[in-house]
Amino acid sequence: MNPQNYYSIKFSGDHLSFLDQTKLPLQEVYINTDNYERIAVAIEKLELRGAPLIGISVAFALALSFKNILENHLDHFNKVYKRLASTRPTAVNLFYALDRMKKVFYSITDFSNTYQILLDEAKAIYDYEVHCSNKMAEIGSKIFTKKSNVLTHCNTGALATAGFGTAFSVIKKAFDEGYVNHVYADETRPLLQGLRLTSYELEKNGIPFTVQTDSMAAVLMQHGKIDLVITGADRIALNGDSANKVGTYNLAVLCNYHNIPFYIVAPSTTIDRKIATGSEIEIEYRNSSEILSINGNQIANPNIKTFSPAFDVTPSHLIKGIITEEDLYSFPYNFIR
Ligand code: MRU
Repeated sequence: MNPQNYYSIKFSGDHLSFLDQTKLPLQEVYINTDNYERIAVAIEKLELRGAPLIGISVAFALALSFKNILENHLDHFNKVYKRLASTRPTAVNLFYALDRMKKVFYSITDFSNTYQILLDEAKAIYDYEVHCSNKMAEIGSKIFTKKSNVLTHCNTGALATAGFGTAFSVIKKAFDEGYVNHVYADETRPLLQGLRLTSYELEKNGIPFTVQTDSMAAVLMQHGKIDLVITGADRIALNGDSANKVGTYNLAVLCNYHNIPFYIVAPSTTIDRKIATGSEIEIEYRNSSEILSINGNQIANPNIKTFSPAFDVTPSHLIKGIITEEDLYSFPYNFIR
C-alpha cells in the first residue's frame, strides 16, 4: 500500500506493529504488541502520533483487547474504551474511531466472535484513512497553479496517518506532478516533529527541503521565499476554526500579513460535528520537561515555569481553504452537523 520502505502501523495476523516515532530519524525501531495498554502508552508518549493515526491505533487497541476475552464483554469494553479515550484529548479522530467501535460493539448479538468483528471495523477505519489520503492528494494538488515553494508545520505524512498523509500527501502529489520547487519544514518545537519526522519523510520521497526553526518562518515570507503554507489539523469546528500543532496559528497570522494562501488538509474524520467554534476545542497541555530537555537531556533549570500547549486554534477567517477527501472548501465554512 505504501511504496516507501517504512510504515507507521501495520496489523499482521494477531498483533500490531508500529514504528516508534520518538526514536526517529536516528533509529528505526518497530514495536510488536497485542496489548492495548502498551498502545495507550505509545499514544501518550507520542511513539504513535498524528490525528488520523491516533484514531486507527485506538481502534486496533480496542479490538486486540478482546483477543482472549470470554466473559464480561461489556465491562471490559467500557474499561478499555475509557482508558483509550484518556490518552490524548485534542485529536477528534480518536473519539470518532472509538465511537465507531462502540456502535459496532453494541450491535453484536453473538459475543463469541467479538474479537473478529471489532478487528474488521478497525481495518475498515484504517482503509478509510488510506482512501482519504489519496482523495485529499487528488483534490488538494489542484491548488497549485505554478511551481511553488511550500512551507509546512509538524508532521503530516505516512507517519501520522495511513497512506501518504494529509498535508504531506498533497505536497507529495504536487511534487510528483512538477509543481513543488522546494519544501520549507518548520522544526516544530518542542518535540521537533518537523525536524525529525517531516525531514525523514521528505528525504525518503526525494523532495528537496530545508528545515528552519519555527521563528524563522517570518523571515522566509518577508524575503518572498514562500508561495503557500499547507498544514494538517487535529480538530476542526463546524465554522472551520482549526486546532493543529502549536505554531500553526502563528503561520496563519503571518500568511495573512504577507498575503500568502494558508491551507489546511484533513480527512472529514477530523471535523468535530458537535462543536460550533474553536473555543470548544480541548487543548492538550504537555509536561514542562518537553520544553526543558531535548531527547532526555536537560537543557535548563528543571524548575523553570513553562507554558506548553500542544496545539493552537487558527480562526477560520485566516484559512483560505480546507481540503478533505470530499472537497476543497473555502471560507466562510459551514460544515454540516
Ligand atoms: O502532537 P502530534 O505530533 O500528534 O501532533 C500532530 C499534528 O499536529 C499534525 O499536524 C496533525 O495531527 C494533523 S495531520 C496528521
